[in-house]
Amino acid sequence: MEEQLKKIENEAQQEIAQAESRERLEQLKVKYLGRKSMVTRLFTKIPVLEREEKAKIGKALNLLKQRINFFLEERAKNFEKKEERIDLTFPPEKINRGIKHILACVDENICEIFKNLGFMIVEGREIEDEWHNFTALNIPLEHPSRDVFDTFYLDLPVSDYGGENKGGGKYLLRSHTSPSQIRVMEKRKPPLAVISPGRVYRPDKVDASHSFMFYQIEGFCVDKNINFSHLKGVLFSFAKSFFSEDVKLRFRPHFFPFTEPSAEVDISCMICKGRGCSVCSQSGWVEVLGCGMIHPEVLEACGIDFDRYQGFAFGMGVDRMAMLKYRINDIRLFYENDLRFLEQFYEV
Ligand code: PHE
Repeated sequence: MEEQLKKIENEAQQEIAQAESRERLEQLKVKYLGRKSMVTRLFTKIPVLEREEKAKIGKALNLLKQRINFFLEERAKNFEKKEERIDLTFPPEKINRGIKHILACVDENICEIFKNLGFMIVEGREIEDEWHNFTALNIPLEHPSRDVFDTFYLDLPVSDYGGENKGGGKYLLRSHTSPSQIRVMEKRKPPLAVISPGRVYRPDKVDASHSFMFYQIEGFCVDKNINFSHLKGVLFSFAKSFFSEDVKLRFRPHFFPFTEPSAEVDISCMICKGRGCSVCSQSGWVEVLGCGMIHPEVLEACGIDFDRYQGFAFGMGVDRMAMLKYRINDIRLFYENDLRFLEQFYEV
């Protein structure tokens, strides 16, 4: 008898373990524990057994029934429908919101420093006319210095664009942010301290340090008794806060038609700390901006009395500034939108 029970248990265990659905489990339940099952039939034989046997077999049969039930329940767990539960304590998946472009951050950072020095931010326009981009800046049509500022001209009839074209010249993509000086001085009178960021365009061949579109920030100040030392003071103060206290600036005499005197400013190379590297062409210095005292012709073109007012102006390359500060050796990286590059600037 005991052997028979063991055999039933083994069989049941094996078949239940192989069951692949709830229906199959139901069938096996009927087969092993149902009214016509072997186990039930054996129960019916108990009354005819000897007293001692009765207790022993009864106990063994109950145990067998319990075990088969246990096998059935355990196997049934595999087919339980996975209940969906919302666990409010579970940390959420990371949401990728994106980040600001490194150039936008540097641009804002520079503007913020000048704002703290008392400058006001005024945005210019990317489509300019020849008068604002050249003529008013003391670069007349036939002047050879127009060649220096190679320019993208636009095929736009004058009447199609705002009808505001002073001088009736061609439209163009501005080749520098200096026309912002003119736009502001036409409308407002001194005292003025203005910073004007934006994109500029030049048909340059693209390489590690040139792009046909890049970012500049124009700054200028017009008031009574303004002189070159004010310009130096502002630029020093800016460079110390943007780079570090130990930064050095070098002013080299230069020529711009719209400033007199003019200078180009080099900054001590932040990458090699002046020892010489490929970014500074082994010289220890990197050119970062052009500047000077606003030419009287420019003030006059904007209707400002140049006997009473003087001003200084500067224009810096934002890409250059970003490259120096974050040790980036190729301007193209800014514009290729490779996330592996851009994502390195989460903290900026
Ligand atoms: N506009 C000049 C350039 O793009 C920079 C500059 C601005 C120089 C203001 C002097 C004064 O090269």
